[in-house]
Amino acid sequence: MTEATWHSVAAKDDVAPDEPIKVEVGDTEIALFNVDGEIFATSNICTHAFASMVHGFQEGDEIECPLHEGRFSIKTGEALCPPVSEGLRTFEVKIEDGKVLVKA
Ligand code: FES
Repeated sequence: MTEATWHSVAAKDDVAPDEPIKVEVGDTEIALFNVDGEIFATSNICTHAFASMVHGFQEGDEIECPLHEGRFSIKTGEALCPPVSEGLRTFEVKIEDGKVLVKA
């Protein structure tokens, strides 16, 4: 496995509150979320079936899957209710010169 490195994936202003966006690092789809002005990154693919989290419904620091309404914590990736039991992978984020960098 290659070591994770920082990737510039978006401008911070591209990530509006409650409007997550999808970015890609290699083959990895990552969802970026704005929670109270802070940016967080998780895997974009639900752990239950193949659904894109950016098409889900963000409410504060939770994201609801668009397919079967499983919910995850955006900050920790934790699975919060059935049918999801496995958490989403999360990625470290930092902001530099208005850009969002993700460690992946
Ligand atoms: Fe996400 Fe089923 S695919 S809850």
